[in-house]
Amino acid sequence: MAFPATRLRRLRQTGLLRDMVRETELSPRHLVLPMFVQLGTDERTPVESMPGVERLSISHAVEEAGEAAALGIPAVLLFGVPAEKDAQASGAYDDEGVVQLAVRAIKEAHPELVVMTDVCLCAYTTHGHCGVVREDGTVDNDVSLELLAKTAISHAAAGADAVAPSDMMDGRVGALRGQLDAEGHRETPIVAYSAKFASAFYGPFREAAGSAPAFGDRRTYQMDPANSDEAVREALLDVEEGADVVMVKPALPYLDVVRRVKEATGVPVAAYNVSGEYSMIKAAAAAGYLDERAAVMEALISIRRAGADIVITYDAKNAARWLAE
Ligand code: PBG
Repeated sequence: MAFPATRLRRLRQTGLLRDMVRETELSPRHLVLPMFVQLGTDERTPVESMPGVERLSISHAVEEAGEAAALGIPAVLLFGVPAEKDAQASGAYDDEGVVQLAVRAIKEAHPELVVMTDVCLCAYTTHGHCGVVREDGTVDNDVSLELLAKTAISHAAAGADAVAPSDMMDGRVGALRGQLDAEGHRETPIVAYSAKFASAFYGPFREAAGSAPAFGDRRTYQMDPANSDEAVREALLDVEEGADVVMVKPALPYLDVVRRVKEATGVPVAAYNVSGEYSMIKAAAAAGYLDERAAVMEALISIRRAGADIVITYDAKNAARWLAE
């Protein structure tokens, strides 16, 4: 007698049947490509710690967005790298700021592409924190909320299809929802970075966005990697405050959290395969320690298997190409 597992293995070997018994699907339609957009230069600037990722001028961002769309990737997520920073992060909510200009240009060239924007202050503040800092060095939650709401409104006014607050201030989803509604953007969805852990895996991103904190760290507003009950509570709270999609970030070290958040909320869940996760595979592949393509595809299907509906990854274009082969 053959064991059922043996028969199932046999079934999988017979061509098309392998696909029929496959539990999880990964397709370009699940992917979001993050992009760094900069002002003041028409160059593509390589990000040293993220081989293959570049900071793009607006015209290059339009080009890159078009390539993503042509590969079947439905959405991009924009991060701005402003030419100047100040204590009030005024570049974040400037209607002629880098993200606002990029949104308009991309939507004009590729109206079918979903353009999401990261809403945070850290790339726009001189000190690199995600909110406004008081004289004693602590973050002023409520003043930060006002500036974050202004930022989200100016992104929506520029044509963003969804805003993604990543600052982790308390009450930010409710504040954004209230202000967006009041300013005529009732239909702009919020993709909330609900369970954002204080993670070493953001290191390369901070080089890309020039957003490393000048003092202290983000542990007062980002989550302790040891906690998953708290992550579930944060996600439920964000849904209550009006989040349309909740996000877990980073992805691979937190797949259990992805699963729990999906089961607890029942809303679409996004997982962010962050910069350090990307760079780890690139570095190991460059050293000849592993097969880049196989490792990336395994990582991405695992994030989907854990329960993520949407996977945000710097490998979106590579993955889409590999899936098409
Ligand atoms: C801004 C923000 C960060 C990331 C996304 N939005 C960095 C941080 O919190 O320091 C990280 C993304 C990545 O590492 O790819 N708050």
